[in-house]
Amino acid sequence: MRYIGNKTKLLPFLRSAIARLGIAPGVVHDAFAGTAAVGRALKSAGWVVHSSDLMTYSYVMQRAYVVASSVDSFDELAKADAGIRGVFTERGLAAPHRSIIGAGRAIPLEPTDASATRLTAVAEHLAAGVAPNDGFFAKNFGPAGGRMYFTDENARRIDAARMTLHDWRRRGLLADDTFYILLAAVLEGADRVANTAGVYAAYIKQWQPNALRPLAVVAERPIGTVARCVAHQADAAQVAETLGPIDMLYVDPPYNTRQYAGYYHVPELIARGWFDDDVKLRGKTGLIADEEQKSAWCSRRDAPDALRGLLAATGACHVLVSYNTEGVIGDKSLRSILADAAVDGRVKRFTQRYKRYRADSDREGRRYKGDEVRELLYYARLR
Ligand SMILES: C[S@@+](CC[C@H](N)C(=O)[O-])C[C@H]1O[C@@H](n2cnc3c(N)ncnc32)[C@H](O)[C@@H]1O
Repeated sequence: MRYIGNKTKLLPFLRSAIARLGIAPGVVHDAFAGTAAVGRALKSAGWVVHSSDLMTYSYVMQRAYVVASSVDSFDELAKADAGIRGVFTERGLAAPHRSIIGAGRAIPLEPTDASATRLTAVAEHLAAGVAPNDGFFAKNFGPAGGRMYFTDENARRIDAARMTLHDWRRRGLLADDTFYILLAAVLEGADRVANTAGVYAAYIKQWQPNALRPLAVVAERPIGTVARCVAHQADAAQVAETLGPIDMLYVDPPYNTRQYAGYYHVPELIARGWFDDDVKLRGKTGLIADEEQKSAWCSRRDAPDALRGLLAATGACHVLVSYNTEGVIGDKSLRSILADAAVDGRVKRFTQRYKRYRADSDREGRRYKGDEVRELLYYARLR
């Protein structure tokens, strides 16, 4: 998903810093999970991940990409839903745990492969197979609702997909993991056809090429491990407090004064669940009325105390903080807060510029000539 602060491209930088520090996989708290890109990468690397974020769409992605380890067989769904039954029969997926026929011969599949093939078919059916519906998104976020976030057709398809999913869940036809995998796929699909410049603070007054494409729902197969990861929709410090002793805390907070709640209200609404007309919206962009999931980390005045509070609450041995040179907490202040919390008073800083990784120490006060640091990663040992 297009997301401010998404760390997907910086994963090699993060992995390399963890390797250089010699931190072995254990239990980690990805405290500002966002798209869950970091939690997902750490789970793949063998970590047991607890993740947290204030936003519902983030919780959906945490569940889909970090917590989920398996996919339904979809047998119950196929029994109850004639549309799905038809799709499975058409695609030769009617007997999921035996084989599929390909290139004239039977290709044996592991159960997970069969389930994954069915998952793809169910996701595609949600995008294009269920009848478009004039629901909440069509009424509020398409031209019929006076806003151009989605074409009428895509808004109606988003409504159909999310309402079908919630209906299946309500009837007990989907396991939780599968529900969240599919809901995350709808969120991401909607984001790809959103008529925005990347955030939902405004829509564009002319249709962009991406917005004119039909909604596509592409479900991601989960990382199947035995690691029991947990998602939280809550404040980072509150979750840190409940986790007790862990190995590592990863901190990737908002850097500036822009609140995520105002920038991503449309995915937030898609993620929230079953509703029709009972959510009140306000203003040109349809923000959620009377609700502010406001973060202290976006305030120049409050962010330093929020960081102190999080460091006091965590039981982690190691802390890594991603930050940016234009953040609301200045470099000096950030280093001093981390140094106060560190067991040895030391703070290490890794920087990334043009794909070169560097580390320096605050004690040496090194400056790189003409260095325009774009991404910073601070490290301190807490216990
Ligand atoms: C820079 S983004 C994180 C990006 C994430 N690492 C990724 O790769 O997608 C910051 C996130 O912090 C969340 N956030 C803001 N205040 C928070 C708080 N007090 N506790 C937990 N999460 C918070 C925002 O909703 C946002 O998703």
